[in-house]
Amino acid sequence: MIEKIKATAEYLKEKTGCNPKAGIILGSGLGGLVESIEVKHSFDYSDIPNFPVSTVEGHDGKLIFGTLEGREIVAMQGRFHYYEGYTMQEVTFPVRVMKLLGITHLFLSNAAGGLNPGFSVGDLMIIKDQINMFPENPLRGKNIEELGTRFPEMGEPFSKKLIEKAKQVATENNIKFQTGVYVGSAGPTLETPAEYRMFHILGADSTGMSTVPEVIVARHMGIECFGISVITNLAVSEDMDKGTTHDEVQNAAGEAQPKMTLIFKELIKTL
Ligand code: HPA
Repeated sequence: MIEKIKATAEYLKEKTGCNPKAGIILGSGLGGLVESIEVKHSFDYSDIPNFPVSTVEGHDGKLIFGTLEGREIVAMQGRFHYYEGYTMQEVTFPVRVMKLLGITHLFLSNAAGGLNPGFSVGDLMIIKDQINMFPENPLRGKNIEELGTRFPEMGEPFSKKLIEKAKQVATENNIKFQTGVYVGSAGPTLETPAEYRMFHILGADSTGMSTVPEVIVARHMGIECFGISVITNLAVSEDMDKGTTHDEVQNAAGEAQPKMTLIFKELIKTL
């Protein structure tokens, strides 16, 4: 595993000569931030040695090197989901590679269902904590000692400093935001009404099928994380979530996307 991670990082370093300080992972329909990047190099995932290949509609599957607000970044347009059949190690492989490329901060976005009755479709939720409801943990198995400790603490999965800055940025720019807990589960089914209710009772405010494994692996390696859920559908009452379609999720994500992009850009500026 570590040899593959190193080989892929070496390949990308050699091809790009880039030295990114921040990594960005863009969720379903949230790829618009790419237009703000001054792109230096762009790779289809299928052209990167050892990379899995993304298959879901709305995920372009590109690794982009360039600058955002003058800072060197590496961005994933589209991510790898557990429900696609990848192992947890495959899902999180790019985060491992980004660490070896030099990132110290990881920015993640996702499209998510809203569990909190105070939320509306199109809201941005700054993620303050997460719950892992995937059937496994990406760190299960032999620990890669040179990347991190066997039993990583998870006391601050999302950087409190970045959360505070993000709140400031949102307020200054008149962007409505929520804060809350994200629960990640395997999918690909959306939740049943009872499952939505259960997740809310457990303390979650948004629910989706990503992010959690990436944050676990990032924290294992000491990377500071910041995440935003874009609320694409609501599951907050008895007649909740009347048949959310993938198209609706993509539309809501598209509309909220510019606000999320602004917050990411302003935070990256301060690194
Ligand atoms: N559940 C899980 N994943 C999601 C949802 C949802 O309601 N909306 C967007 N991604």
